[in-house]
Amino acid sequence: MYQNVNTRETEMIYSPTHGPPPPYDSIDSLGKTAPNGSTWNPKNWSKVTILCVIAAVVVVIAGIIVGAVIGTRENSYPDYSALAYTLEDTYSGTGFFDNFDYFTGYDPTSGFVHYVDSEVADSQQYNLTYASSSSAILRVDTTDTDASTGRYSVRITSKKQYNSGLFVFDIVNTPYGCSTWNALWLSDPNNWPTNGEIDIVEAVNQATSGNQATLHTASDCKMNVKRKQTGTVLSKNCYNGTDNNAGCGVQGAPSTYGQALNTAGGGIYAMEWRPEGIRIWFFPRASIPSDIPTDVSNTTAPDPSTWPTPLADFPNTNCDISSHFRNQSIIANIDLCGTWAGATSVYSDEDHCPGLCSDFVAGNNTAFETAVWQWNSWRVYTAA
Ligand SMILES: *[C@@H]1O[C@H](CO)[C@@H](O)[C@H](O)[C@H]1NC(C)=O
Ligand SMILES: *[C@@H]1O[C@H](CO)[C@@H](O)[C@H](O)[C@H]1NC(C)=O
Ligand SMILES: *[C@@H]1O[C@H](CO)[C@@H](O)[C@H](O)[C@H]1NC(C)=O
Ligand SMILES: *[C@@H]1O[C@H](CO)[C@@H](O)[C@H](O)[C@H]1NC(C)=O
Ligand SMILES: *[C@@H]1O[C@H](CO)[C@@H](O)[C@H](O)[C@H]1NC(C)=O
Repeated sequence: MYQNVNTRETEMIYSPTHGPPPPYDSIDSLGKTAPNGSTWNPKNWSKVTILCVIAAVVVVIAGIIVGAVIGTRENSYPDYSALAYTLEDTYSGTGFFDNFDYFTGYDPTSGFVHYVDSEVADSQQYNLTYASSSSAILRVDTTDTDASTGRYSVRITSKKQYNSGLFVFDIVNTPYGCSTWNALWLSDPNNWPTNGEIDIVEAVNQATSGNQATLHTASDCKMNVKRKQTGTVLSKNCYNGTDNNAGCGVQGAPSTYGQALNTAGGGIYAMEWRPEGIRIWFFPRASIPSDIPTDVSNTTAPDPSTWPTPLADFPNTNCDISSHFRNQSIIANIDLCGTWAGATSVYSDEDHCPGLCSDFVAGNNTAFETAVWQWNSWRVYTAA
């Protein structure tokens, strides 16, 4: 579903296309024979020849200027120097889900799903969202053996909206399995794509090929610039009108999502959003930087400027981050089928899942035992 958007109008090389003027004995375009004398003496050139020479010089100068501008852009890179962060919000403990609205409308991405409200999700019967003092769980119903109009699942949206910050997600377990479309992301759903979307963790079906971190924006946001990241570029144009809203994605290694991540004890995803750019890191549990406290009672703020190269880097070089991203809520959900996970080219061809996606959802309740998000905490730090 991704095309490589690699068109660089910028890569033309300008060179003079006009050589020296023609030999003096040729007939110029005014039909007159050139006077005797050196071809190289401008006094002997016709008006047309002079105009041609001026045009050639202009083309060469324009080429030098354009080349310099392109060269500057290719080498330019924002200044991500340290910001003084302080802890603003901690989402943890038994009250974890109190900070969210439960989305209950039709799925905007056409999933075979019923997003339930907090009463159903929190009920003893379904128990789809559950928070203890140590962690929070969000999952898909595994009890309905005939979910013929779509299976129960959950999509939560933080009541609070943000305009920048350092977001630290301590993840114990990521959901996976045929038909699932799992995401932990930021957006302003009522003002999309104008206010942007930041997909921090997203994967579909068995999700064995790693996390995809992606931005979706209104027009004029491209990542065809210098970046410092370990992930693989999938697409460079973040504009939602490009490639059927594929966004500008960056893919992590297989260890960054799914069963591989879960068996390694989970880890921390961190996202820094500031005017200079948006960067996303993944740290497996065994290699969390020492300046990220895992104990939520410790309010010390981490310093991303000391961390290794991020998985994904979206600098502001050719995308005005401040105007493309505003009023973002934190959203987590597990969709089922829908425009990504359920597309035949993905569900069947790429991910080798059986039959029809909707049949799988309706009839395979026990398959959703692996469709579980579990978080220790989410923390948000802001800079003064
Ligand atoms: C809900 O799920 C949690 C976590 O799996 C579990 O500890 C708890 O006992 C469940 N509650 C009910 C009523 O089944
Ligand atoms: C992109 O966003 C515009 C504006 O909301 C919308 O009209 C259009 O349908 C979107 N395109 C896609 C492919 O989502
Ligand atoms: C809080 O966390 C920081 C960073 O991990 C650590 O250096 C500091 O010692 C911790 N403070 C306490 C009181 O544990
Ligand atoms: C952001 O939200 C605030 C408060 O609801 C609102 O006043 C403002 O217009 C919003 N800004 C944008 C760009 O949507
Ligand atoms: C249920 O899952 C099993 C194992 O993946 C699969 O073989 C079977 O085809 C699935 N059933 C449906 C109705 O999709």
